[in-house]
Amino acid sequence: TWTMLNIVEDAIEAVRAQVGPEGRAICGLSGGVDSAVAAAIVQRAIGDRLTCVFVDHGLLRKGEAEQVERDFVAATGVKLRVVDAAERFLKALSGVSDPEEKRKIIGREFIRVFEDEQRAILADGPVDFLVQGTLYPDVVESGGGTGTANIKSHHNVGGLPDDLRFTLVEPLRTLFKDEVRRAGEELGLPSAMVWRQPFPGPGLGIRIVGEVTHDRLTILREADSIAREELSRAGLDREIWQCPVVLLADVRSVGVQGDGRTYGHPVVLRPVTSEDAMTADWSRVPYDVLARISTRITNEVREVNRVVLDVTSKPPGTIEWE
Ligand code: XMP
Repeated sequence: TWTMLNIVEDAIEAVRAQVGPEGRAICGLSGGVDSAVAAAIVQRAIGDRLTCVFVDHGLLRKGEAEQVERDFVAATGVKLRVVDAAERFLKALSGVSDPEEKRKIIGREFIRVFEDEQRAILADGPVDFLVQGTLYPDVVESGGGTGTANIKSHHNVGGLPDDLRFTLVEPLRTLFKDEVRRAGEELGLPSAMVWRQPFPGPGLGIRIVGEVTHDRLTILREADSIAREELSRAGLDREIWQCPVVLLADVRSVGVQGDGRTYGHPVVLRPVTSEDAMTADWSRVPYDVLARISTRITNEVREVNRVVLDVTSKPPGTIEWE
């Protein structure tokens, strides 16, 4: 729309003024809409003087890494460094089942990898600016301060070492989520990114109840992809706030699939409606849609022989299982 075009152009101008004619910036991409739109605006403002970093922790859903590496880059022309850190994260998570422990490990590894990348970029010359996709509600919540700061990041981690201090560039500071999505469309970003539902920073790592392993991630990724596909096909994307699919990796139950008895794992569907994730209600997804999801998952994902539906609101249940 015309006004959104103006908002985007003003934001681009403001970044140009802040960063100046020589300044360089870096931006971490998560696969989510906020960092993507922020990066796209800054790219329009300063071109190749922006370097984006995508740490692939191996905990994203099917197709999401490709969305960043291929579709986002094609749509924006952003200069991107990809770090495939999947093995490193798996190793760090090995043997760990406790949810908070998983979060801590994922957050810690993420910061380490990101800092290594920052240092590599700094080797090519000084970088003074760090781009962040801070939205207006985040600004209000944190009391409105700005300046040099740390990676707020989806991992909620604290301060940066002294050699990695930057001035923040926050082109979305005045925008609400729906405006960010409209800006993303205006900027021509892939619609799967623009309309992506909330997804936790620790990713599928906190949707496997039990230890996170390569094989379990593969199973969950397939089941999740089927659920997302069927919910979209049924036109429920805007109605559902998010739908975690959770693998109960340490639980087995007896089933009968194809030519014999199986002893497989259940997955839980957790579709919820919500305004802000503080409270939520379980979503009354039509039975025929649930039936299609269940049939497809048990047919197409060999290790899963049971699909169950979570009918708990928040409170008392949280949205995620971990
Ligand atoms: P819960 O499970 O607490 O989730 O009802 C509320 C919202 O927050 C998301 N969530 C997270 N996001 N890092 C994040 O960036 C996390 O560790 C995390 N845990 C939960 C969740 O997906 C939901 O939207």
